[in-house]
Amino acid sequence: MADDFRHYTVMLDEAVDALECQRGKIYVDCTLGGGGHSELILKRISPEGRLIAFDIDEEAIAHAKERLKDFPNITIIKSSYTNIKEELNKLGIDKITGGVILDLGASYHQLTKGERGFSFSKEAPLDMRFDMQSDFSAYDVVNKYHEDDLVRIFSEYGEERFSKRIAKKIVETRRTAPIRTTKELADIIISATPRVKSHIHPATRVFQAIRIEVNNELKNVNIVLHDILDLLDDGGIISVISFHSLEDRIVKNIFKYESQKCRCNEMICKCPPPRIALVNKKPIMASEKEILENPPSRSAKLRIARKIC
Ligand SMILES: C[S@@+](CC[C@H](N)C(=O)[O-])C[C@H]1O[C@@H](n2cnc3c(N)ncnc32)[C@H](O)[C@@H]1O
Repeated sequence: MADDFRHYTVMLDEAVDALECQRGKIYVDCTLGGGGHSELILKRISPEGRLIAFDIDEEAIAHAKERLKDFPNITIIKSSYTNIKEELNKLGIDKITGGVILDLGASYHQLTKGERGFSFSKEAPLDMRFDMQSDFSAYDVVNKYHEDDLVRIFSEYGEERFSKRIAKKIVETRRTAPIRTTKELADIIISATPRVKSHIHPATRVFQAIRIEVNNELKNVNIVLHDILDLLDDGGIISVISFHSLEDRIVKNIFKYESQKCRCNEMICKCPPPRIALVNKKPIMASEKEILENPPSRSAKLRIARKIC
């Protein structure tokens, strides 16, 4: 198989050690990607343990299938991790006895393969879909969204301070002809923003915002974390790596809420007991060595929790 798939697995040992892998138990990798975390889990749980892995990207799945072909105890599912309940149910699994790993965001392959349209430095059609069979892409966001919605997503998902100017310029430009490529969009963003000293390209935040919108990333994280907490058996572990503050905030808040003894603030508390215990209060960051070898790992944050009831 011609395989140009590249991904540098982030916090491999830290995220998998957290799962305290045991043979005979069931594990789930919600974000298979290049199969890096899955491979280490399989090495630790085989032959008796079982791993179910999800991804929506066919290129990732094709690569991981080849990489993990010697492990008969992995089931790879092309479906969103938001379908975890239905998909495990189809397999006759009602409880995840071991643990779950989520390595959020995009793979190196997705971000750097020009044709996928994630990068403003490579000319390509506006795409940014993780799932290449989806019929909703960056083209639809850029050319069909109302100006107010563009402002909202650039502000909320990109934390872009020139959201209004950029949205206005996009809407003006697309009146003449649709905006079709990454380069056209990047040029519009550059022309709409004042020159300010910054170490990041002016299009970085808007591209991040569009990617999050196209793939429903933040909403999906919210959904899947609640589903995982329902599915995890007592003692089961959830290990989550996030790459930007918006994702990390969702993980942090859900973990905090679910681990609190009281969530009602009433004089006489009637809250059920907390469902999880935090394994680490502060997120674990990549080591200096890893950051030197793979600089994007500097943004990664790992949070771990254990189901307790
Ligand atoms: C950072 S990569 C994972 C890399 C992997 N842990 C490794 O070591 O090779 C994230 C993966 O999650 C996938 N993904 C994103 N949203 C998803 C969703 N809703 N359901 C399933 N997979 C998703 C992406 O397609 C991508 O392949």
